[in-house]
Amino acid sequence: MSDLEIVITPELACYHEAIEKLGATAFGPGRFTRTAFRLREGVSPERELSFVALDNNSLVGSVRVTRVIIGTDLALVLGPLVVDPDHKNEGIGKKLLQQSVSASKELGFQLIILVGDEPYYRPFGFKKVNPGQITLPGPVDPVRFLYCELQDGAMTGYSGRVRTCSSSPDIGAFPV
Ligand SMILES: CC(C)(COP(=O)(O)OP(=O)(O)OC[C@H]1O[C@@H](n2cnc3c(N)ncnc32)[C@H](O)[C@@H]1OP(=O)(O)O)[C@@H](O)C(=O)NCCC(=O)NCCS
Repeated sequence: MSDLEIVITPELACYHEAIEKLGATAFGPGRFTRTAFRLREGVSPERELSFVALDNNSLVGSVRVTRVIIGTDLALVLGPLVVDPDHKNEGIGKKLLQQSVSASKELGFQLIILVGDEPYYRPFGFKKVNPGQITLPGPVDPVRFLYCELQDGAMTGYSGRVRTCSSSPDIGAFPV
């Protein structure tokens, strides 16, 4: 399978079911209890920052980005990032990640946080959060709590607890 056939495109509402299925396969029922999941619960992902990977119109990967509040300041949380196991190691995850990070920067956001494996995310500018500078509303392995500055020095302006951005401006449902 050549990755030339893979198309990265913004998420649409019609992909919702396939994305849920991919997430269920990758993370199992335990995903609902994860701190990162709970942070995004009930909040629509950002339409312009969330992407899918399509192989001949079939969904083979997804990345979602959602607004959060850290202390009193707006930031983004990236995840889940998930690729169909049949398409692992074809570069799809990295392409999705690159697309979301670039789009977030272009739109003027300051900071992305996520919970994930640092070796995978490091090449995209993600680093470990200094213990205690910002905190998640649930348990997380501290070595997997990462941030990426979209503007130089942005992290120095953030402190406090990360919480759900329930008062996100209405970005509307994904177009079908
Ligand atoms: C993690 C995941 C998104 C990677 O997607 P992918 O399209 O298979 O990965 P890519 O092709 O972009 O990158 C492959 C490279 O990343 C490495 N890699 C994959 N998962 C990794 C991890 N968890 N930690 C470190 N490196 C990893 C591979 O070894 C490979 O390295 P190489 O290029 O040196 O050979 C995918 O395996 C997946 O969906 N996993 C289950 C869900 C998950 O854990 N998501 C991430 C947390 S939200």
